[in-house]
Amino acid sequence: MQPFTDRVTPLRPEGAYAVLAQAQALEAQGRKIVHLEIGQPDFPTPANVSEAGIAAIRLGKTKYTPPAGIPQFRAIIADYAGRLRGLKIDPAQVVVSCGSKPGLFFPTLALVASGDEVLYPDPGFPTYEAMIRVAGGIPVPVPLREEKQFSFDLDVFDASISERTKLIVLNSPGNPTGGVIPFEDLEHIAGKARQHNCWVLSDEIYTQLVYDGDSAHSIAEIDEMLERTVIVDGFSKTYSMTGWRLGYMITPVALAERLELLITHATGCTAAFTQYAGMEALTGSQDFVAGMVSEYQRRRDRMLELVNAIPGVHAQKPQGAFYIFPNVKSYGLSSKEIATRLIDEAGVAVLAGTDFGAGGEGYLRLVYAVSMEVIEEGVEKMAAWFKAF
Ligand SMILES: Cc1ncc(COP(=O)(O)O)c(C=O)c1O
Repeated sequence: MQPFTDRVTPLRPEGAYAVLAQAQALEAQGRKIVHLEIGQPDFPTPANVSEAGIAAIRLGKTKYTPPAGIPQFRAIIADYAGRLRGLKIDPAQVVVSCGSKPGLFFPTLALVASGDEVLYPDPGFPTYEAMIRVAGGIPVPVPLREEKQFSFDLDVFDASISERTKLIVLNSPGNPTGGVIPFEDLEHIAGKARQHNCWVLSDEIYTQLVYDGDSAHSIAEIDEMLERTVIVDGFSKTYSMTGWRLGYMITPVALAERLELLITHATGCTAAFTQYAGMEALTGSQDFVAGMVSEYQRRRDRMLELVNAIPGVHAQKPQGAFYIFPNVKSYGLSSKEIATRLIDEAGVAVLAGTDFGAGGEGYLRLVYAVSMEVIEEGVEKMAAWFKAF
């Protein structure tokens, strides 16, 4: 058989799916596993949103739509996303996609040529490295610093950016750390992006999940940045719609037109009834989101209190998303070894920091998008394991 291409040979599974499969295999053998590995809200999709999707199916909204999305939906997104960030966005700048992941992949394919360098956060969402490699680009990981609330090490950032850099990937609030990039850092990054004429791909999928009354800024708010930024957002986390597959990109119009062509040939369009559900999500009551955010804040605080009570384990208070990223370096084992032993010996599924890049060595990722009971049971089991170590 002919070998596969360099586009697919470097691809690896996402740690979360791999550990979930491992946990399920143990469960099939009768073991009880506490799940703190999968970054998926435990809330059901709000009823008004599901009903809108069902009503759309009943009304026959089951056909192709324009590849970039139903015009009315693009207009609703332009208005909503613009208000959220204090920006004026034209519906022609909005491209609807099947989840946010195509919003990461397609702009990378459109912007990164073979040999172009792409800066991205380490530890970071595994799709970043995958999409850079598939595009033929050169991944240039930039470390996040725990002491800076997991924002970039700006000295390394400055040393890494050059005329070879085509794209900078940002993720704030971030997966796996929950860190929010401070506005001064965004201004610094924007200055460098303008100086080196780079694009920015700003993954803002957790932008509504910010705690303690804070908010996360978009780099696109900074002067002259909207014209070189792709904002990526979606419905999976904010409206608990992971399985509906709904997201969008906001880009300059000329790029949006290219992305529409990529969608035309790659996926055709996003499911019509899913888009109708999305319209209801953005135009209906936002009480669900507010309730979910305050519940996540309560869970974050409880998980943090329990984790930080474990001797030798220390977690920063994350300002966003639904992850904590405790430092376990004092135990002298690799993250992978600890994560593997936690699932085998304590029955708790967590991810190794290194599932998100080499910069995650010495950390674990724990999800608090689970009930308070699951948080307490999981962290208590972890604590017992660490004590017996
Ligand atoms: C940082 C980040 N970006 C993008 C995604 C993809 O989300 P979607 O379900 O919208 O494709 C995720 C999902 O976990 C994520 O954590």
